[in-house]
Amino acid sequence: MEPLYEGKAKRLYTTDDPNVLRMEYKDEATAFNAEKKAEFANKGRLNTAITLAMYRMLETKGVETHLLSQIDEVNLLVKNVDILMVEVIVRNIAAGSFCKRMGVEEGIVFNQPIVEFSYKSDELGDPLINDDYARELDLATPDECAELKRKALIVNDVMIDFFKRAGLKLVDFKIEFGRTKDADAKIVLADEISPDTCRLWDIETGKKLDKDRFRQDLGGVMEAYEEVLKRVEGIS
Ligand code: TMP
Ligand code: ASP
Repeated sequence: MEPLYEGKAKRLYTTDDPNVLRMEYKDEATAFNAEKKAEFANKGRLNTAITLAMYRMLETKGVETHLLSQIDEVNLLVKNVDILMVEVIVRNIAAGSFCKRMGVEEGIVFNQPIVEFSYKSDELGDPLINDDYARELDLATPDECAELKRKALIVNDVMIDFFKRAGLKLVDFKIEFGRTKDADAKIVLADEISPDTCRLWDIETGKKLDKDRFRQDLGGVMEAYEEVLKRVEGIS
């Protein structure tokens, strides 16, 4: 079957039910808007399992997601939602593009989290935007932007606490949201939550256990993802 949509790390397929899609996690990894590419055996399986555990944990805390069920090691069934073209990034500690843009050292701990929006466009390299851009480009209404920010901060609070119990510091993460197609169109968490989309540092040693191991050629990429899954499952 042809995918309905193919992204850098996942493929989406239709199912017999128009309200349901199959999301397949790939082994491919990209960084810096796909300038750098590689394939890692097991990445799809690890990110499926980590996303599943995170979504189930978030659902118990009242955060709605598009997750329906697991099919197998690399496939989840999800609600067919309209993905908002706004990516939401939350930062607790300075890293990555924040350091590059602002010329500061990695590791500065923020007093309060920073929430950023970017326009989901591979062609443009996901540029940073604000509420006004989102409104004028019809990406999200001002009310929706406020809702995205509010929901992202709740996800941050829940995940900081969860990862802390797993011995991990949640440095930053990117999440996406979708509008359900029901009459009462709700905004729910969609896409994935994995070491591809979160920066996670070991609380004791500071070791990076996320995609920065690939971005920065640190080695042991899948070993780090395995470690995250082990810890997440250990406390789930
Ligand atoms: P950044 O520092 O590169 O902007 O990344 C911030 C967070 O967002 C980090 O946890 C990695 C995640 N991220 C994605 O999930 N997808 C992306 O395309 C980018 C650029 C970042
Ligand atoms: N996922 C993005 C890319 O492919 C960026 C990143 O995560 O660094 O290229």
